[in-house]
Amino acid sequence: MVDSISQDVLIIGSGLAGLRAAISSAATNEKLEIAVVSKVQVMRSHSVSAEGGTAAVLFEEEGDNQESHIYDTIKGSDFLADQDVAERLVHDTPYEIYQLDHWGMPWSRRNDGRIDQRNFGGYSFPRATYAQDKVGFYEMQTLYDTSLRFDNIRFYNEWFCTSILSDENSFQGVTAIEMKTGNFFKLLAPAGIICTGGAGRIYSFSTYAYSSTPDGLDMAYRAGIGLKDMEFVQFHPTGILPSGILITEGARGEGGYLVNSEGERFMKKYAPEKLELASRDIVSRAMIREIQQGRGFKHESGADCLKLDLTHLGADRIKERLAGIRDIGIKFSGVDVIDDPIEITPVCHYMMGGIHTNIEGASEMRGLWAAGEAACNSVHGANRLGANSTSECLVWGRITGENAARYASSSKAASVAVSPQQVLEEEKRIYDGIFRGSGEVNPYQLRRDLTDIMDAKAHVFRDEEGLQEGLRKVMALKSSSWKHVDDKAKEYNTNFINVMEIDSMLRIADIVLMGALSRQESRGAHARTDYPRRDDVNFLKHTLAYYGMQPKLAWHPVTITRYAPTERKY
Ligand code: FUM
Repeated sequence: MVDSISQDVLIIGSGLAGLRAAISSAATNEKLEIAVVSKVQVMRSHSVSAEGGTAAVLFEEEGDNQESHIYDTIKGSDFLADQDVAERLVHDTPYEIYQLDHWGMPWSRRNDGRIDQRNFGGYSFPRATYAQDKVGFYEMQTLYDTSLRFDNIRFYNEWFCTSILSDENSFQGVTAIEMKTGNFFKLLAPAGIICTGGAGRIYSFSTYAYSSTPDGLDMAYRAGIGLKDMEFVQFHPTGILPSGILITEGARGEGGYLVNSEGERFMKKYAPEKLELASRDIVSRAMIREIQQGRGFKHESGADCLKLDLTHLGADRIKERLAGIRDIGIKFSGVDVIDDPIEITPVCHYMMGGIHTNIEGASEMRGLWAAGEAACNSVHGANRLGANSTSECLVWGRITGENAARYASSSKAASVAVSPQQVLEEEKRIYDGIFRGSGEVNPYQLRRDLTDIMDAKAHVFRDEEGLQEGLRKVMALKSSSWKHVDDKAKEYNTNFINVMEIDSMLRIADIVLMGALSRQESRGAHARTDYPRRDDVNFLKHTLAYYGMQPKLAWHPVTITRYAPTERKY
């Protein structure tokens, strides 16, 4: 008999979107029991590592305006953003900035006391609201502190969710392992919100925490919910070597620039107006081109790279506004950016795709919403602008939290009913299929092979041959005999958790490759060397992937409100 715990709203994931959703659910109806379940301690959620900013229009009196933020977002998306969703993001973000301010967020300020903003790539106005270069950490701390004021929010830290429970396509809860005890539970609720973040650990060279595996995406996928636009993977221009840790775009926003081995500020050839502050897809492609044409540097690890020069900014400015990345440079690259340029190269940083939702954050399953990077409400289209992600987490954290709470309070919420058969099948899947599996291949070696394949075959530039080869290799890994767990302990069995994570990584990598193969055009972060042009006639549409032995692909229309697609120039 599997124990169950019931609540009204179940939030899976404790990053920015999850915490914001918890607060808004709890505030919408204080009689509801809200649970936040996370595989890590709250302040270890990957959101804490967001560095550069949260984009919002705050200074209309100085010339900024919402129309411009909306257009920048849509242009940045290479016109694949749903335009009504971009409008909602822009309208709702200023409220979130001031709400955080009232909750105690230590935003960096101008001398006159007003909140400060800095430049970021792809924007027509400096609108990245920041707190030095540790924005995510301070936002998380502010939201966590605020959430603790609510008696009706309960945290389940270090619980690993394994599958969605549903009844006739209505959400009923999830199955989960309490890691401390190893006990298996049903966490039941009529309303759920998936906020489990992105899946960038399917790449080796990645800015993501090692915990950023696609468990949440995979749960939704296996439950029959579509994953949208998964081929669009963002490579941030400035990951340090050899670790991949991020150097914030705020460094370029403050005036840092990129140089090649000839000492040339090469971005003037690729984006004459915006230079290093063009959108990320354009900067990363330019960097790879420079390296391919022999104007890169060699890092001591053997990797090709370019350099980011901040030395002209001066010690005072760096210490005041970029102290975090100075620290990172010293500790992880042996370079003090005050004195020397630092070696960097494009690094996997964000996934534009995720669980298919509408503008309200509602998924295709009744009673289930998704928010933050785990979701794809199509606000970022084919390429996200920097600083629009934390904005999205806050805005759709609030929206989905309210929606889920209203639903759970209404008569529409079905009383929760889970068939014992469903739970039995899940126990078989994870305990017989994985924990007691008899695979021979080392799962950690398999994970390394998988992430190396993704680095090699689904990087900034892709083509048919490479993607087909990647797909064949991933299929071979999937069908090899690998599922087993060496550690047979019940308590704190991270080996077991890791193997379940790897299982989900294989399925999601497959979808990224299949989506990339089917999109025979270049758009935003998806650059096909064999289809170098954007093709609005055939591909101005979203990709959907549904569960099957191999993902079943479908298409979904883009919402265009006011902005006709044009060629992008920066
Ligand atoms: O460069 C950065 O600080 C990253 C920001 C983002 O991805 O939004």
